[in-house]
Amino acid sequence: MRRSTVAPSSKSPAATDDVVSETVSILGGTGNLGFGLALRLGVAGYTVCLGSRDADRAQRAAELARERVGGGEFIGCRNGEAVARADRLVVAAVPFASHVAILRSVADQWRPGQVLLDTTVPLATAVGGRPTHLIDPWHGSAAQQARSAIDDQVALASGLHTISAAALRNLARPLDQDTLICGEPEAKQVAAAALERIAGLRVVDAGSLEMSRLLEGLTPVLIGINIRHKTHAGIQVTHLGTSTKQQAALA
Ligand SMILES: NC(=O)c1ccc[n+]([C@@H]2O[C@H](COP(=O)([O-])OP(=O)(O)OC[C@H]3O[C@@H](n4cnc5c(N)ncnc54)[C@H](OP(=O)(O)O)[C@@H]3O)[C@@H](O)[C@H]2O)c1
Repeated sequence: MRRSTVAPSSKSPAATDDVVSETVSILGGTGNLGFGLALRLGVAGYTVCLGSRDADRAQRAAELARERVGGGEFIGCRNGEAVARADRLVVAAVPFASHVAILRSVADQWRPGQVLLDTTVPLATAVGGRPTHLIDPWHGSAAQQARSAIDDQVALASGLHTISAAALRNLARPLDQDTLICGEPEAKQVAAAALERIAGLRVVDAGSLEMSRLLEGLTPVLIGINIRHKTHAGIQVTHLGTSTKQQAALA
């Protein structure tokens, strides 16, 4: 089994065989990426709260997730309530065009100790451009923009930029890929503890939040590959965790 390269937290979620006594919330849980992630986290045993701007839409998405998974604990509610219900991890899976507005709309719901995993990519589609082009947020990246929009007490990580919604939604197929994650140590630990319970997903620590500009830039590269090869490609980082001796043999 390929192991996460993020140092584990001393506060990993309590887990029995396949139930985790923790609620993870997803802002934009009705959307392509958010719904796919909800399915995978539900299969991994989490209670998943799917957030939306509209409570009815969220409840319909939660019902659909239960049908797709054949059970599981899924809750649908408005985004603010989703933050309030999360034990620790909240994932933002919303378009760049409404990213800051949605983070501001939930600003008074956070508790100290919660963390945000931001998946947002500033694709040029937000301004009528192409999905293979990126725009330059003032703060350097979408994740750094999120940092300016949420309370300092909420730790922030950025990841999942190269995991396609289609791959997440296809439960018949293990993901068999890596996600590069960057950000503040506490947030990386909490996010990695949840993500590595998803079958076939390895979390690779890519450093501090400033790296997000580069990680977000991988998405349009993959979208271009997907268009050319008619697939849902992901990435894998090689030779992680190999010993110095093995590295010498590979040189
Ligand atoms: N799709 C992928 O494969 C993928 C992969 C990696 C990263 N990402 C990133 O993940 C984020 C979400 O992508 P997505 O493809 O899941 O997006 P999406 O399906 O278009 O939208 C996700 C959800 O965001 C909410 N939303 C809020 N403001 C919106 C607006 N102005 N227009 C449309 N929806 C809005 C909607 O939920 P409610 O209407 O219920 O509020 C919607 O269901 C993006 O930043 C994207 O770059 C996506």
